[in-house]
Amino acid sequence: MPMYSKKVMEHFTHPRNMGKPKEYDAVGKVGNPVCGDVMYIYIKVKENRIVDIGFETMGCAAAIATSSMVTELAKGKTLEEAMKITRDDVAESLEGLPPIKMHCSNLAADGLRAAIMNYKKKREKEQDKTT
Ligand code: FES
Repeated sequence: MPMYSKKVMEHFTHPRNMGKPKEYDAVGKVGNPVCGDVMYIYIKVKENRIVDIGFETMGCAAAIATSSMVTELAKGKTLEEAMKITRDDVAESLEGLPPIKMHCSNLAADGLRAAIMNYKKKREKEQDKTT
């Protein structure tokens, strides 16, 4: 197992916001074709802000820790702010990831972005219907 920071191990063993929230507006699904890991990020949005977020991740320790961290970083943020969360933000907040594991944090940031994009698409469709 690669050397993980204390913070990574802490999030891996005690993940925050794990599981599908009872209510959510959109989900982002991303997969890593190399390792086969899959991640789902669920978001609940109110007045353009992420009020609840959860994740389901079938993956390595780093994938679980980065999922947990990305949900912590995104919670309470506006959609625009959350879109700007990068894989480096996630890795930095976890006090670094072994270079071989950087693709795992990519997955978390991409999953969040996918959820936000899906939410926006859904909203546009709803608005089309009402106009
Ligand atoms: Fe697949 Fe980490 S090894 S996401």
